[in-house]
Amino acid sequence: MSEKLIIFDTTLRDGEQSPGASMTKDEKVRIAKSLERMRVDIIEAGFPIASVGDFEAVQAVANAVTDSRICGLARALDNDIDRAGEALKGANASRIHTFIATSPIHMKMKLRMEPDQVIENAVKAVKRARRYTDDVEFSPEDAGRSDPDFLCRILEAVIDAGANTLNIPDTVGYNLPHQFGQLIFDLRERIPNADKAVFSVHCHNDLGLAVANSLSAVLNGARQVECTINGLGERAGNAALEEIVMAVRTRQDMFNVDTNIDTTQILAASRLVSGVTGFVVQPNKAIVGANAFAHEAGIHQDGVLKSRETYEIMRAEDVGWNANRMVLGKHSGRNAFRSRLEELGIEFDSETDLNATFRRFKELADKKHEIFDEDLQALVSDTNTLENERICLISLKVCSETGETPFATVTLSVDDEESQVEMEGGGPVDAAFRAIEQIVKSGTELQLYSVNNITSGTDSQGEVNVRLEKGGRIVSGQGADTDIVIASAKAYINALNKILVPVDRAHPQV
Ligand code: KIV
Ligand code: ZN
Repeated sequence: MSEKLIIFDTTLRDGEQSPGASMTKDEKVRIAKSLERMRVDIIEAGFPIASVGDFEAVQAVANAVTDSRICGLARALDNDIDRAGEALKGANASRIHTFIATSPIHMKMKLRMEPDQVIENAVKAVKRARRYTDDVEFSPEDAGRSDPDFLCRILEAVIDAGANTLNIPDTVGYNLPHQFGQLIFDLRERIPNADKAVFSVHCHNDLGLAVANSLSAVLNGARQVECTINGLGERAGNAALEEIVMAVRTRQDMFNVDTNIDTTQILAASRLVSGVTGFVVQPNKAIVGANAFAHEAGIHQDGVLKSRETYEIMRAEDVGWNANRMVLGKHSGRNAFRSRLEELGIEFDSETDLNATFRRFKELADKKHEIFDEDLQALVSDTNTLENERICLISLKVCSETGETPFATVTLSVDDEESQVEMEGGGPVDAAFRAIEQIVKSGTELQLYSVNNITSGTDSQGEVNVRLEKGGRIVSGQGADTDIVIASAKAYINALNKILVPVDRAHPQV
């Protein structure tokens, strides 16, 4: 009988800390619902003290999800913990995750605290968190570069104070698998009350070792892994949920653990996170990349046809490939539309919003006969206007002809005032972007532009991602349409609307 490995997903918290990956409240709820469908044990929904928006998003996720435990992050500070406790009030099951840095460099340079003060603050924080929930997790930040003797002292003290999960982060992705596994083994051996807590790990991918380090920790007794969909996260990201789950499941001969995850939901969650954040999944990405199960070389195809195990160690359908079914079409009614969206965790605040999205669905169904879940997700993302949206696309006309310079005529409404501009460009997208910038004068720099088809076929919607930078702030925008020039304009305007709204948001680790 294998033991349970707890899957703690932090896409909505650490994943969202990637520059340009910030999500709206509604997007977070949609992702949380998809994680719940996947049977993720714990969803870290955000850092409630960071901003009013973060607080409300954690609150909304706590109210919307019933089957997964909802966690909020808090530094070892009274206000952080109180705010997390408040945001989690509506949750069926809640957890507060509190942390403080323990490596010499972080204690000295960042916290400017003596080690004994750090222990004192950690104990105080855990006790305060226990006033709100009996499920408290403690992390010694930068544990991977901390003194193991000091880790033993602080972890013993926080267990006594009431922490029931001890999360060991390799915050800067510095550890090697054998070393990190040994650290977990030693901590479990040396801490006298270690049996009163679950050991968890949280690995960053700076050396490309986040998954390897997490799995080495599991082999050495860790029973919770913190991870994100598609490995989203700060810098090089966090350990990828899909890789951890499938490694443990595929190599049952090595791991005496298994997860509760419904793996058939993995691909849908991956696509949703990628669509919402604009972080495209590379084709050769394990499990969820477009080529992960594609057998290009003839010899492989021949082998797979004779016996799939010759080259396949997992079945594509087990992680949700080939589950792409046509869900709705031109003749689908409003009720079928609403109920499919509800199954996807998408609800509407009002009948007016539902009707507007339904109208868009009908327009799409006229152009594209088969509508898949991915189309619906893109449609909803596209229809959901941001709060304080200042720029709206009224119309776009482009002209592109062999031997001629393309041009675009764009009409925008900016702060309710309409303007029209015509511009030439290297291509129709370039012309459209120049025209938009001519009206908005944002002074932003385009860092990334990418187009992907949402489903297959030339009638597929194109999903465009645009990343803009201004004064060190990075935002990404998304747009979808069967016409990729229109999708591009929508994505650009979506990013501009985000960058024009000032944000005042604390980062937990700064
Ligand atoms: O990487 C890290 O150390 C973190 C902590 C807050 C757990 O994200
Ligand atoms: Zn982290």
